[in-house]
This record gives sequence, C-alpha cells and structure tokens, in this order.
Amino acid sequence: MTSAVLVTGGAGYIGSHIVAALARAGRASVILDNFQNSSPGVVARLVRLAGTPIPLVEGDVRDAGVLRATFAAHRIGAVVHCAGMKAVGESSARPLAYWDVNLNGTVRLAEAMGEAGVATLVFSSSCTVYGQPDALPVGEDAPLRPASVYGRTKRAVEEFLRDLAGADARWRIAILRYMNPAGAHPSALIGEAPLGRPNNLVPLMCRAVAGEFDEVPIFGTDWPTPDGTGIRDYIHVDDLAEGHLAALDHLGSHPGVLTLNLGAGRGYSVLEVVGAFEKACGRPVPKVVAPRRDGDIASVYADASRALALLGWRATRGLDAICEDAWRWQRAGGRYA
Ligand SMILES: NC(=O)c1ccc[n+]([C@@H]2O[C@H](COP(=O)([O-])OP(=O)(O)OC[C@H]3O[C@@H](n4cnc5c(N)ncnc54)[C@H](O)[C@@H]3O)[C@@H](O)[C@H]2O)c1
Repeated sequence: MTSAVLVTGGAGYIGSHIVAALARAGRASVILDNFQNSSPGVVARLVRLAGTPIPLVEGDVRDAGVLRATFAAHRIGAVVHCAGMKAVGESSARPLAYWDVNLNGTVRLAEAMGEAGVATLVFSSSCTVYGQPDALPVGEDAPLRPASVYGRTKRAVEEFLRDLAGADARWRIAILRYMNPAGAHPSALIGEAPLGRPNNLVPLMCRAVAGEFDEVPIFGTDWPTPDGTGIRDYIHVDDLAEGHLAALDHLGSHPGVLTLNLGAGRGYSVLEVVGAFEKACGRPVPKVVAPRRDGDIASVYADASRALALLGWRATRGLDAICEDAWRWQRAGGRYA
C-alpha cells in the first residue's frame, strides 16, 4: 500500500483543490479539518472527482490527541499544511486566535510528525510575509516586513520550520508563498465557498453578480498604481495545487528547506480583474469605492522563476480562465449543500 498525503485544512478552498490534484496524479489523501471555515459537503464532491474514498478526520490541528490518532490510523508519508486562519483584516482584531491557530497549530503538527517519523511537510505561506516590497517582482530573498498580524504569524511559522530543519537534517520542508489564489476546478464541483461574506475579490464578485448582496467594495482607489487600485498576482487555484505536487516530488530527493513563491508572475489591478470578470460573466459587476483596509498594500507580484528552475512548475492558466471557472462554480451554486 502506498502512503497517503495528510492535507490539513483539506476541506478548505486551496486544500480541496490539492486533494483533487493529488487524486488526478493517482495519489491518496487524508483530510484533517475542523470545518471552522468550510463544510463537510466538500468531501463527497472530492470523492466524486477522485473516484475513490477519501478518509476524513474531523478535528483541530492544535489537538495533539487527534493528530496522534490520525498518524496511527493512516499510513501517511507527507503532510500539506493548509489549516489556518487567513483574513488579513480580521487578524488585527483577533491576534490571539490567529497566533494560536497558525503558530501553535504548526508546532503541534510538527511534534506529531516527529513522533510518527514523518518528515516531509509542505506549508501554506503567503506573499503577505513581504509586506510592500521595495522592488517588484518580489523574489524569495526580499526582506520580510509583513504589514498585518496574519502576515506576522506566517513569518513566524516560516522561522519555526527553518529552526526545526536546522536542528534535524531529516526534515524535508517546502515553504510555499502563495500570491492570490482564485478560480475553481473546471468541473464546478469544488470552488471557493467561504462561510459568511467573502473577503477576496473574485468570490465577492461572484456573489454580487449573482445578486446575493449589493456591491463589491473596492478597497482604495488612491494607491500609488496606474489606476489607483491595488495590484496583485492572481494564480489559478489548480495551478497552485499542482505546485504542491511538484514541491512534494522535489522534496523526495532534496532534504532541508525550500522556500518558493507560487504566483503567475504578473500583476493585475482590482479594476482589471473586475473587467475580466465582467467579460467572463457577461454582466456588470456592481461596485462601490471603500476605504483602504488595515494591513493592505499597494502592489505585489511574484518573481516566479525559482519555482520554474527548481520544480519545472509554472502557472499555465490565465486571468480569463480564473474568471470563467469562478463564474461556472458560482452558477452551479457556489456552495456545498
Ligand atoms: N486564499 C488565499 O488567498 C491564501 C493566500 C496565501 C496563503 N493562504 C494560506 O493557505 C491556507 C489555506 O487557505 P484557504 O484559502 O484554503 O483557506 P480556507 O479557510 O478555505 O481553508 C482553511 C481550512 O482550514 C480549516 N481550519 C482552520 N483552522 C483549523 C484548525 N484549527 N484545525 C483544523 N482545521 C482548521 C478550515 O476549516 C478550512 O477548511 C491557509 O493557511 C492560508 O493562510 C491562502
């Protein structure tokens, strides 16, 4: 029996697409999630896509007992650690929750992996660790100056993981700094389904165009960018998911710590993304100018050349595919029953 990949947060947006990508590659997953920001309904969809059962552990990544039982019950060869809290704005109001889940969750997970003799870990980090970079595109060696509590928790976890690998050469760790994941699986069986009002631009547009609420807030039109709106690097979630498989393969022959940006390598302004979405759905996006959000920055996009050089991975799906797939997911309901 080959070993499975434990995907913490595997019921969430990115985790579910990673589970689907693993299945496409013929690899088994185990999902661990407490459904803090997701629904159990995603698992049945994933089983449909995979055509095989996918074990689910409902539990908290901070719970040592749950982790120990998970490693004892399943033959796990590697872990992809997506479970975490991710809303930049909310993080400044709830630092305790963000530090606890993001940092303590990773410490408990690493402890359990150590006990179980599992040393391969892929960690969901974020381009928020850079803050506003001095130069763009931002490379992995740029200074880390996160502008939010959320970003500081990610930077701290990165430091923790480097300390771990520095003390024990058996660790094989990939720190993947995601740019802005968006879009959905082309089957429209899985997609971004945040509980409550979405925080990210693409799901906000999906739900606003579908009439679920009035207007999409454009957070700041006075940024130092050509059209005054923020510029981000949007990466299709399926490209991102495939980057995890490439990272796992790389770790198979490379111990130590690998730190990589996963992005498309180019930036689009909020208004450009709105335009692309309007083209994809054939309707206007209702929008309203809102003040800048706490912790936001003007512009960030990745130098993605290290991922290409080391993993042979690059994003292949563009902004139009992102918008078309997201809109297809919304038209199919945009949620799990
Ligand atoms: N979506 C983005 O824009 C983005 C960008 C960069 C990095 N990331 C990181 O990628 C990871 C996944 O993000 P996502 O967009 O899929 O978010 P998500 O909220 O959809 O998924 C996270 C999953 O983790 C689960 N979870 C949260 N706390 C948990 C806990 N204590 N125990 C067990 N499960 C728990 C949630 O229920 C959810 O299913 C996060 O670590 C996030 O910080 C996301």
